[in-house]
Amino acid sequence: PVVSVLELGGVKIARDDVLRDDPTNNVPDTIFSKLGLQLHRRDQHPLGILKNAIYDYFDTNYSNKFDKFDDLCPLVSVKQNFDDVLVPADHVSRSYNDTYYVDSQTVLRCHTSAHQAELLRKGHTHFLVTGDVYRRDSIDSTHYPVFHQMEGFRVFSPDEWEASGLDGTSFAAEDLKKCLEGLAKHLFGPVEMRWVDTYFPFTNPSFELEIYFKEKWLEVLGCGVTEQEILKRNGKLNNVAWAFGLGLERLAMVLFDIPDIRLFWSNDERFTSQFSKGQLGIKFKPFSKYPPCYKDMSFWINESFTENNLCEVVRGIAGDLVEEVRLIDNFTNKKGMTSHCYRIAYRSMERSLTDEEINDLQMSVREQVQSKLNVVLR
Ligand code: PHE
Repeated sequence: PVVSVLELGGVKIARDDVLRDDPTNNVPDTIFSKLGLQLHRRDQHPLGILKNAIYDYFDTNYSNKFDKFDDLCPLVSVKQNFDDVLVPADHVSRSYNDTYYVDSQTVLRCHTSAHQAELLRKGHTHFLVTGDVYRRDSIDSTHYPVFHQMEGFRVFSPDEWEASGLDGTSFAAEDLKKCLEGLAKHLFGPVEMRWVDTYFPFTNPSFELEIYFKEKWLEVLGCGVTEQEILKRNGKLNNVAWAFGLGLERLAMVLFDIPDIRLFWSNDERFTSQFSKGQLGIKFKPFSKYPPCYKDMSFWINESFTENNLCEVVRGIAGDLVEEVRLIDNFTNKKGMTSHCYRIAYRSMERSLTDEEINDLQMSVREQVQSKLNVVLR
């Protein structure tokens, strides 16, 4: 059914408001149709189960209860999404290539950190924010342009670290690592993990937690000690704080053995029924995997070509039938023209696709890649 009015976090959005004829609007139908689904609020969905398990951890281990939000509107201002968390004006994440803009001042949040400042200003000192987040990206089994994050935030007052003999920053960093190691143990049982130093504009120091899974280190969250500037601007001048943002799909794929990120969106009863108990501890049993079908296409790119734009076109046509879009060849000739060859993997998780169906999809992809991206097919 075509949805024409959506109610999000108490705000009504007419479809035309989102998809109006605005050159700064890069939100396609495939994304618009995901707004308001809120998979993380379904108790019998792997994302809801995971959210509830993380809530349990915080409820059990902290007498100072964390305030929980899972219904904040995903449409936020550029200021909330970027400026309020100190993302520099020229940071790539602000580009139209990486972020969905509804208009020049409004985006689909690309992280739950977009809510840090407003919640601090409202006086919250311990909070968890769960929500759908949106990023333009390439296509493979662990990337989907809509996914879910949980943000955690904790503010300390001076008496809390002064007693420890540590400075505020070291105290917060230590507390943060202990909290998240405990969470990983709560979810996974004994598990091998490691901390990796990294950079975020809103925390310093910043870390990533990786978990050893199926012979690989998998990044599951980003975190750090909140930049003093954020606290200062929001009425917490004499405090320190930590924050984390974890990717629910990544964790859920590991926890429940879910092999492809598209499955989270599936209404196939063979998927949904496996989570009907609403509990941790089940391992997903894949229903027979249908064979993928590969189609290659080569074209000469232009200066404005990006892989994210290509993936948006492919998804617009094939929807969740596309499993992966991968660059398999790339060369520049003597005249300076650059050619890319992409391999598209089509596969349904629910049924086998006919040759005819795939050929039709590929034909439309070729046409639109040419007309929308202005590349020259070879
Ligand atoms: N917002 C970061 C991301 O989406 C994660 C993060 C949250 C990092 C809070 C540090 C603190 O990648």
